[in-house]
Amino acid sequence: MASIPLLRLLLLLLPLPLREHLWSSHRPKDVAGVSVGVGAGAGELHPIFVVPGASCSNLEARLTEAYRPSVPSCGALKGKGWFGLWDNSSDLSTYHYNECFEEQMSLVYDPVSNDYRNFPGVETRVAKFGLARGLHSKNPSHPDWCLEKLIGALEEMGYHDGDNMHGVPYDVRYAAPIPGQVSQVYSRHFKEFMELVETASKKHHKKAIILGHSLGGMVALEFVRNTPLAWRNRYIEHLFLISPTISPGFVVSVRNLVSGPQDILYVPDATALSLRPMWRSFEISIDNFPSPEVFGHEPIVITKQRNYSAYDFEDLLAAIGFSDGFEPFRRRMAARMNYFEAPMVSLTCINGVGNRTPRQLVYWDGNFDEPAQTVFDDGDDTINLISMLAFDEEMRRQPGQKGRFKSIKLDKASHGSVLTDEWALRRVMQEILEVNRNSS
Ligand SMILES: *[C@@H]1O[C@H](CO)[C@@H](O)[C@H](O)[C@H]1NC(C)=O
Ligand SMILES: *[C@@H]1O[C@H](CO)[C@@H](O)[C@H](O)[C@H]1NC(C)=O
Repeated sequence: MASIPLLRLLLLLLPLPLREHLWSSHRPKDVAGVSVGVGAGAGELHPIFVVPGASCSNLEARLTEAYRPSVPSCGALKGKGWFGLWDNSSDLSTYHYNECFEEQMSLVYDPVSNDYRNFPGVETRVAKFGLARGLHSKNPSHPDWCLEKLIGALEEMGYHDGDNMHGVPYDVRYAAPIPGQVSQVYSRHFKEFMELVETASKKHHKKAIILGHSLGGMVALEFVRNTPLAWRNRYIEHLFLISPTISPGFVVSVRNLVSGPQDILYVPDATALSLRPMWRSFEISIDNFPSPEVFGHEPIVITKQRNYSAYDFEDLLAAIGFSDGFEPFRRRMAARMNYFEAPMVSLTCINGVGNRTPRQLVYWDGNFDEPAQTVFDDGDDTINLISMLAFDEEMRRQPGQKGRFKSIKLDKASHGSVLTDEWALRRVMQEILEVNRNSS
């Protein structure tokens, strides 16, 4: 029997103008501000958990007595409780907080525990855990980078924030660990994520859909891979990875490390170069390097003196003056680059292709403070096509994933526009609809 929500799902498959016409006649009416669509109907959908891209999660901080600011004024909030450290980026320039921000966001690698932690005296927590509408873009020129349109479309489909739809923000500075790897921050995060999934799944009597975009795709994948297999079978219906940053790596991650982060971390009045020291302290900065298995011996960084392929990253770290990166790179990242275990749940991977995507970075005079000249190749403008194909091949090859992997390549959708261009978003929504329809 097609109840109203399912009917609304089907409407999604119609061409847009027709859909909008039919839609309005089936939209549940609000009674005294209370939506009447929530009841039994919403229970028919698989609860969905959305994990956004890099700059969408908010971080709150608290400065303890142990904090020794390098500039006295940065200690102003010491002992004053929690405040938004990475939230509204325009506040940073309004309050001249950039320098303090960079110090308070910094991480420290601890060789004893082989793990990263906060700058001494700075405590942090992720804000608005569980709310999809709690995610927001820090970059005023890209206000729709944080799943806003997807979340809107899911709401039209019958999803309700905080009920059968949840946002899962995370601490962007840390890299999601592969199974067996120590990560204090992610152990806690994955535990909370599991509890959230269990609660919603029990409430709605349905297994969960997990969807991650960009860096959130990597977090979603590692989340699933880190759960016990029996738990996955019991609670996960489907995993969607949209433009995921995956272990075969991509060249843009090298550019961010060498020249400082562009786009991924928007801070007003800051250049990529000025953010570089903070960025290099993040675990994420040495993650997602092109894997030697996939990128081979082709040069990735080119200078007059010598070239660096995926095999030469330690030499590159030395050349760019970041030998602090050696140890965590060797002890944490090297294993990740070659980790391709399938998640063993139904998986759909959606990528844009047909966009100019950096493949080689030329710093001819060996000056890594100058912007690179870029040689382009195919991809989604950030992730290289060769990397997507390697991931697909691995997922198809592994027996545990057999018959449960679908790869969709959308021509001319880019890393971000795959969830903001109407036509591409509609394709993604169709897949979510399929999952809800096939199992109801
Ligand atoms: C961010 O803060 C600025 C003032 O610093 C304010 O004008 C703006 O509305 C805020 N944006 C959000 C999303 O809260
Ligand atoms: C570096 O790579 C480029 C492009 O593949 C090649 O033309 C050049 O000869 C190489 N340079 C060195 C020093 O090996």
